[in-house]
Amino acid sequence: MAMAASTLPVLLLLLLLFSLSSAAAAASPAGRSPCFTSLFSFGDSITDTGNQLLLAPDGVLGHCCFPPYGETYFGRQTGRCSDGRLIVDFIAEQLGLPLLTPYPGKLHSNDFPLGANFAEGGATALDFHFLAEKGIYNTHTNLSLQVEIDRFKELLATICSSPSECKDYLSKSLILLGEIGGIDYNRAFFEDVAADEIIAIVPYVVAEIGKSIKQLVELGAVTILIPGNLPIGCWPGYLTKFWSPNKEDYDPLSGCLVWYNNFAQHHNILLQQEIARLQKLYPHTNLMYGDYYGSATRFHRHPEKFGFTGSAVVACCGGGGPYNYNESLICGNEGSKACAEPSTYVNWDDHHFTEAAYKIVAKDVLEGPFSTPRFNASCLVGRASDDGLHSAY
Ligand SMILES: *[C@@H]1O[C@H](CO)[C@@H](O)[C@H](O)[C@H]1NC(C)=O
Ligand SMILES: *[C@@H]1O[C@H](CO)[C@@H](O)[C@H](O)[C@H]1NC(C)=O
Ligand SMILES: *[C@@H]1O[C@H](CO)[C@@H](O)[C@H](O)[C@H]1NC(C)=O
Repeated sequence: MAMAASTLPVLLLLLLLFSLSSAAAAASPAGRSPCFTSLFSFGDSITDTGNQLLLAPDGVLGHCCFPPYGETYFGRQTGRCSDGRLIVDFIAEQLGLPLLTPYPGKLHSNDFPLGANFAEGGATALDFHFLAEKGIYNTHTNLSLQVEIDRFKELLATICSSPSECKDYLSKSLILLGEIGGIDYNRAFFEDVAADEIIAIVPYVVAEIGKSIKQLVELGAVTILIPGNLPIGCWPGYLTKFWSPNKEDYDPLSGCLVWYNNFAQHHNILLQQEIARLQKLYPHTNLMYGDYYGSATRFHRHPEKFGFTGSAVVACCGGGGPYNYNESLICGNEGSKACAEPSTYVNWDDHHFTEAAYKIVAKDVLEGPFSTPRFNASCLVGRASDDGLHSAY
């Protein structure tokens, strides 16, 4: 009897404490990053969280806007070029921020201060007139990085009313600038522009990224993560178009085309030099190089160690052939087919990874050695709740 009398209040107290703590958890799923109150992203389809769906040129939707895109995580098409979340989504989760909504577009007004995505599928680093002069044409969109930066300035004008207010706001933002430039090169390679001419545009692409960093810093950005190009010699499209009978053209561990991977690394080396130059010029900032290439090389060389038992170089979704890539029957087109288990594949649809591979890259950059200088791990709060993420989109 005595026991029952004393146990009841204890149980009630425990129950009360439990409900209080779960109420707090619901209000702030995993807490917010102590470093960043907002996240902004720029780039192409590697980082586009929905602009493609909202801003389709002439109302013509790209192939990423059709099933089976989004099937793994969202269960619907969001404009993201993968089966699920992208690197930028995992970054948002790790900062305790909602997944980014695309700008411009119909956004929840309270989403603005937490960030926005300016990346758009097909966007080039260089202005399309400049590329056209070099014989490189972009059939999907004429959007370039400077247009994205201009849209950001337009949004910023609605968020803060004075330069010092904007600086204060942006000092607590993480900016993800890229990957960008990959489309400039893809178009050129697939339009058979001569290799030496493509190599010659790399410094222009890098200078354009540098110009964007400069503008962002002048607006008040302090922390900018600038990812490099991915190992394009591992894309099923490159492996199909530039198939070679010579064994020595392939990396024996990954089966990727060595020349094209070296090209991507050439871009990455020049990009890191530009970042180092700007870091000296702006010592109060933290300009980090994001080594997507280094991270991806790990699972391209040893896919089985990361659970990729399907394939690393055959696309999960495509129109058949040795790499499941057919230029006239791409993923999202009627008649294309997707693998049953995307999480066992590195590659989703030629030049985009599966959610499973993107997740590893994001973790490698934020927590691992694949950012220079290293990302401050104390800024991360881990995974937010799935419910919060879904409703935030
Ligand atoms: C870019 O494309 C849009 C839509 O196709 C068009 O309205 C616009 O004039 C183009 N911009 C330039 C600079 O050509
Ligand atoms: C690619 O797809 C097209 C359209 O379905 C088809 O006609 C063609 O045979 C395919 N090519 C290869 C190499 O499978
Ligand atoms: C990392 O972030 C924490 C949390 O804001 C901060 O206290 C610490 O000074 C930062 N470390 C560096 C090296 O910036």
